[in-house]
Amino acid sequence: MPELEQALAEVAAEMAERTDRGNVATYIPQLGKVDPKKFGIAAVTNDGRVLLAGDADQPFSIQSVSKVFTLTLALGKVGDALWHRVGREPSGNPFNSIVQLEHENGIPRNPFINAGAIVISDILLAGHQPREAIGEILRFVQFLADDDTIIIDREVAASERATGYRNFALANYMKSFGNLHHEPELALGVYFHHCAIAMSCRQLAMAGRFLANGGRNPATGHSVVSTERARRIGALMLTCGHYDGSGDFAFRVGIPGKSGVGGGILGIVPGVASLAVWSPGLNENGNSKLGSIALEKLARMMNWSIFAP
Ligand code: DON
Repeated sequence: MPELEQALAEVAAEMAERTDRGNVATYIPQLGKVDPKKFGIAAVTNDGRVLLAGDADQPFSIQSVSKVFTLTLALGKVGDALWHRVGREPSGNPFNSIVQLEHENGIPRNPFINAGAIVISDILLAGHQPREAIGEILRFVQFLADDDTIIIDREVAASERATGYRNFALANYMKSFGNLHHEPELALGVYFHHCAIAMSCRQLAMAGRFLANGGRNPATGHSVVSTERARRIGALMLTCGHYDGSGDFAFRVGIPGKSGVGGGILGIVPGVASLAVWSPGLNENGNSKLGSIALEKLARMMNWSIFAP
C-alpha cells in the first residue's frame, strides 16, 4: 500500500490531466463563475496528520456538505424528536425534488435533500432571529475545524436567494402541511446562508474529524456527539449523501460521503481519516464528477472501505 501522501499526490496529478470534468452548477449564478479546472484534496488522519494536494487551501462554496453540520447541530438541540419531522430514507430523486412531499404529508425523506435541510434550518431557528441561527451554525463549523477564519460568502447566499424559486416552493409546500414552524422566508434565510459557507478542503476535512473518530475530536479527545450518533450520521451520509447517486457512490467508493453543488465532497473513513475533495464540475446527479472519481481511486489505493474486513 502506498503512503497516503504519495497516494494523494498521484490522484491529484491524474485529475489535473483529465478533460472530462463535468459541468459547473449555473442555477446559482455565483457558482457558475468558478474555474472548472480547480482540484483540491485533503486528508486529516485520526493520528493527526494533515495531508494536502492540489488547490486544497482554496475556499469554495460547501453548499450541501453543510447539511452534515446542521444535522449534527439540530440533533444536539432536539435529539431524536427530529425524526418526527424528517425521515431517514434515501429519496431516489434529485436533491431539489418536490414529488414525494405530497404523498408523504410534507415530511422530507431525509435531512440531506433540500426539503429536509430546510426543516433542519427551521429547527435551528427556534428561539432565534435568523442572524443568530446563522451565527451559531458558522461558529459550530469554525469550532469543528478549529479555524475561526471560515466565513459565509454573502454574494453566494444572495445569488441563491435571488434564484431560489424551487427552494421557496419546497418551503411553502412544507409550511402548508405544518412542517415549518417559522415563515418560509426565515427558514430559507438560514438555509441559504449555511449553504454559502466557504471552506477549503483542509478546513472541511478538519471539520469532519469527529465523524471519523467515533464522535470525538481526535486532537483534543473532546466529545462532539456520542459514538452512536456519529455512526448514524455516517449511515445517513452513505445512504443519502449523494441523492439519487448515493447507491453508486457507496458501490464505487465504499465510504460515507456528502456532496455539494459547489463540487465539494466530505468523505469519512471510520477509525482512519476525514477526507475532503473539490472539483467544481458536476455529474448528472449534481455531485462532483472528478471528486467522486478521485475518492474512488484513493479508497482503492489505500484499501479503504467500510466493508473491508
Ligand atoms: O439549495 C440548493 O440547491 C443548494 N444550496 C444546495 C444543493 C446542493 O448542494 C446539492 N448537492 N449536490
